[in-house]
Amino acid sequence: MQLRKLLRYGYRSLTGEPHEKRDFSFYVMNQLAKWLDMRIYNKHTNWQDDSDFLAVMRRFDPRYPRAKERQFFLYNLARSLRHLPGETAECGALGGASSHVIMSAFEDDRPHHIFDSFSGLSEPTEHDKPATTAVRALQAGEFASPLEATRRNLAEHPHALFYQGWIPERFDEVADKQFCLVSVDVDFYEPTRDSVLFFFPRLVAGGALVCDDYGFSTCPGAKKAMDEAAESLGRRVIHVPTGQGLILK
Ligand SMILES: C[S@@+](CC[C@H](N)C(=O)[O-])C[C@H]1O[C@@H](n2cnc3c(N)ncnc32)[C@H](O)[C@@H]1O
Repeated sequence: MQLRKLLRYGYRSLTGEPHEKRDFSFYVMNQLAKWLDMRIYNKHTNWQDDSDFLAVMRRFDPRYPRAKERQFFLYNLARSLRHLPGETAECGALGGASSHVIMSAFEDDRPHHIFDSFSGLSEPTEHDKPATTAVRALQAGEFASPLEATRRNLAEHPHALFYQGWIPERFDEVADKQFCLVSVDVDFYEPTRDSVLFFFPRLVAGGALVCDDYGFSTCPGAKKAMDEAAESLGRRVIHVPTGQGLILK
């Protein structure tokens, strides 16, 4: 950290405009991140101030914290698909934050189908073991959360439909539907594989399937399932820097 720059920024943050305080905080955090071999987002990216998106986020219970950049990507993806026919779905909804983002982005009353055990993650397979012990292994039962809480969180969206059970047990109830956007966020290999193989053939042309866990060292099984399914479907996964991966129809 350059001492003179630090002192100059620090002095301005105390005496200057409000943005100078923000600049100073960013400078300090950025230097710290570099020292830790990490990266934080550029402070000039406009998405962080997108008022429509921020209003959507404010309407959701803050006790369910979600990565803002991933929600923004999902929000934008959903908005870009609003012209398409077809319904929407989420596999692995927990408290419903991503489902809220999807339904808010569509701003219409097309059915949104939610599949979740509401008992947390299923049993991992050997594909779900992180490559190194430096990465925490997710366990069966993590993220358990009652269906009633999710129903309450999504009360402003009466077109949300709930299917409690282990994936893929209840998929046949929507076998005759078509979808324009499907979000898959179940962390492990088997339910990710089953979700992609069931939903991708039911996407309308131009539709998208997004996996929230694709680029995370904690979820190697989700990446493997997406890559294998994409290959068998003659597609490639688009890996975005937020950690999400998507397959377009
Ligand atoms: C990381 S959370 C999802 C977060 C959520 N998308 C959000 O917006 O907050 C994973 C969810 O997947 C569900 N889940 C995991 N494996 C499952 C399976 N095999 N069948 C059904 N639900 C499953 C869990 O119950 C949990 O709610």
